[in-house]
Amino acid sequence: MSARIISGIETAKAIREELTVEVANLKQKHGLTPGLVTILVGQDPASESYVAAKNKTAHALGIHSEQVTLAADTSEAELLKIVDTYNRNPAIHGILVQLPLPRHINEARVLFAIDPAKDVDGFHPVNVGKMMLGEPCFLPCTPHGILELLQRSGIETSGAEVVVVGRSNIVGKPIANLMLQKRAGGNATVTVCHTRSRDMHFHTRRADILIVAAGVAKMIKGDQVKDGVVIIDVGVNRIGQAASGKAILAGDVDFDTVVGKAAAITPVPGGVGPMTITMLMKNTLQAAKQAAGID
Ligand code: GUN
Repeated sequence: MSARIISGIETAKAIREELTVEVANLKQKHGLTPGLVTILVGQDPASESYVAAKNKTAHALGIHSEQVTLAADTSEAELLKIVDTYNRNPAIHGILVQLPLPRHINEARVLFAIDPAKDVDGFHPVNVGKMMLGEPCFLPCTPHGILELLQRSGIETSGAEVVVVGRSNIVGKPIANLMLQKRAGGNATVTVCHTRSRDMHFHTRRADILIVAAGVAKMIKGDQVKDGVVIIDVGVNRIGQAASGKAILAGDVDFDTVVGKAAAITPVPGGVGPMTITMLMKNTLQAAKQAAGID
């Protein structure tokens, strides 16, 4: 058996086409252009490339996008002031502060400072709380993208044994919560593994759907999964540099040893990554519509 490849590129393309039409309609019918600002502090190469991709996608969809790049030694107070300026800017509907932030800045304080109505990352505690309760809110982009990928690929989650590897606030905790929700795309039996799990592979071998977001290149091997598993690989690890200068990327799953056992798998690159950016666009459009009172 060779796994079906779940293409994030193809799925993201379909969703972006839908969003492009919606953005154009919003402009035509309501004179409203969704606006996004991305704020990057410092020069981490991975963060720089993510932020550039977010802005490029926004432009391609007709979303107004501003990019703020700040020096690594920017103070927390300065950053909070900038966030506040955008909270009060009516042309901006979505504010994204790229993580991680430099160590001298308190991440929680910055995320709490973003207006929850503009929190298109879904990281503000108000949105995290609403998500937990199953209330409408901005869903964090990577978990939201995983839900869409599973749904649009026709993968049944109801009753499935879902095993999540990783417990970050950005991916592990929210995807575990979303898969648990009592609604379509949820209803799974969820297990979360992490660095202190006593026997992680006992759990990974039980998974019908395995979601890996641990940040360790190729950590899940073929003998640690069962036949027919669906694998969502969230890892983006830079494991070298090609002659062209481009980074060589690897997922958290050892693709070559699992591909013969899995029923379906997301590749790296081209799996979850494009979905994350697309969900940010979807959230920005939603934020603009909500700000204008449009359903
Ligand atoms: N860093 C890694 N993933 C993300 C994300 O989804 N949003 C933000 N703001 N920073 C990130």
